[in-house]
Amino acid sequence: MCGIIGIVGSTDVTDRLVDGLKRLEYRGYDSSGIAVLDKGVLKRERAEGKIKALEAKLKETPLDGSIGIAHTRWATHGVPNENNAHPHFAGRVGVVHNGIIENFLEIRKKLGGKRTFTTQTDTEVIAHLVDLALDSGLSPIEAFKTSLKELHGAYALGLIINDNPGYIFAARAGSPLALGIGETEMYLGSDATALAQLSQKLVYLEEGDWAVITKDNYDIFDKDDKPVERPITIISGGPAMAEKGNYRHFMLKEIYEQPETIGRTLSNYISDFHRETNIPEGIDFKNLDRVIIVACGTAYYAGAVAKYWFEQIGGISVEVDIASEFRYRKPVLSQNSLFIAVSQSGETADTLAALRYCKASGLKTAALVNVMTSTMAREADIALPINAGPEIGVASTKAFTSQLTALAALALAAGRSRNTLSRDGEIRLSRSLIETPRLVTQTLELDSIIEAFAFDFSKAKSAFYLGRGPYVPLAFEGALKLKEISYIHAEGYAAGELKHGPIALIEDGTPVIVIAPYDNLYEKTISNMQEVSARGARILLITDAAGAKISEELADDLIIVPTCDGFVAPIIIAIVVQLLAYHTAVHLGTDVDQPRNLAKSVTVE
Ligand code: F6R
Repeated sequence: MCGIIGIVGSTDVTDRLVDGLKRLEYRGYDSSGIAVLDKGVLKRERAEGKIKALEAKLKETPLDGSIGIAHTRWATHGVPNENNAHPHFAGRVGVVHNGIIENFLEIRKKLGGKRTFTTQTDTEVIAHLVDLALDSGLSPIEAFKTSLKELHGAYALGLIINDNPGYIFAARAGSPLALGIGETEMYLGSDATALAQLSQKLVYLEEGDWAVITKDNYDIFDKDDKPVERPITIISGGPAMAEKGNYRHFMLKEIYEQPETIGRTLSNYISDFHRETNIPEGIDFKNLDRVIIVACGTAYYAGAVAKYWFEQIGGISVEVDIASEFRYRKPVLSQNSLFIAVSQSGETADTLAALRYCKASGLKTAALVNVMTSTMAREADIALPINAGPEIGVASTKAFTSQLTALAALALAAGRSRNTLSRDGEIRLSRSLIETPRLVTQTLELDSIIEAFAFDFSKAKSAFYLGRGPYVPLAFEGALKLKEISYIHAEGYAAGELKHGPIALIEDGTPVIVIAPYDNLYEKTISNMQEVSARGARILLITDAAGAKISEELADDLIIVPTCDGFVAPIIIAIVVQLLAYHTAVHLGTDVDQPRNLAKSVTVE
């Protein structure tokens, strides 16, 4: 949610800033901008839309300078246009900001008589505060430091000052920010991805930290302005950015990577040889009375599937909550609960806040994340990796199936620790999990059948996804994937719930996707399917061979997934709903990897 990069360099920084912005584009792509100090003079270029629009402008009017800051925006305050794009200038000061300054209206009012505001953003007040402090005679460092004290809310910021060509000022409160250490230069970035091409030696600022960065040094101060040392983290993996390869979109590539990514997740949680799960150090499932899973969006649906697994296999009560709701309802927390934050990025503001809330309440906390350098991984008591590799497509795919895989393995670990799962049961279920990469490969072979269905599906105005049991969250996830990348309105429902109201929306030809592999709830789901079919719905039934044998004739279209243990079927079905959303969006010609209004990492509440 907004990406920041800054370089205090020895040579011209413009191209490298633009390159960094491209890596950060997943965080927001409404508009972008760059500011440099050219012989001590602030200059900038900004553009509405994707980074390529900024690049085109920079070709026409190049910017030169060895110090610069840059930003890609996901609009919160003010429409996404060039004027609201960062960097924002006031007098001598230029600033880029990720987060929300909650008291910006108050500050605007306070400064109203002295200053003219030219944008609709909350960020502009930061530049004015620092510039006013400079007017009052404070040194740049003092001006920056005192201005920070006026800000309420969340921010990661980079700031440069006219006539002060040696420095970038940086600060972090609530939004992540890292420094990168180079041989003869220093860097600033929202995350390791931004800095990957520049440095593998990173220093993560902690809550309330601020920093003064020069070409060959950096000084960090804590929230009380005391100088502090923060550890240097060496980032592995080299500078290579995830590439699309021969795939048309990152999303398709990531869908196809799933046999491998699930395999990587498994290798962390299951011992193939012993057919047993590795219980992560620090988790005592035996003595827990509850697991609390908190997440947003797709990660939340992974948690919702896991509830079935933990309860049925681990015999442990599970509460799953949407992160933006969790702490505000003041949940009753028992000390014997394990809190699990599920997050691909490990930076989602609401999930992070829920983690901090539970940690402060004395609960043991775990973070199941894809990015192990993320704030959640660093702050939780236990960091649980999913190892899915960089996920670039904004719609989460491979992270979802890896989250499911890891949570499934943890449910087995809970079952073993709590004696609710026999040794035979554990062997059978771990074997099913180990089989998943092969089953996913077989499911991917259904691609052309799904693509053919998507052609007609793309003409729909609205669609419904139905399921029962663990397929209810899959129905939600299917609808979410379709909405976010194809912009077709879609809803997921528990199949039994439809007749309590939503069935009124079914009319002739309304597409209804029914998720029903053959299990103990199969017949009930099929009855619900017939209820909507009788009202004119066009049914796509996603089932297995046993289910197809019984209900083939009742569905208009059929997708038959490989036969597997019901335990892992949600992971297999996920592939189908991902491909369905993908092909529908491609037929409609939307921007699949960067759908409108979205950003990959949501670091504001
Ligand atoms: C949907 C999607 C989002 C994320 C959500 C949480 O495809 O990607 O719903 O799942 O924003 O993000 P993380 O997992 O990074 O916390």
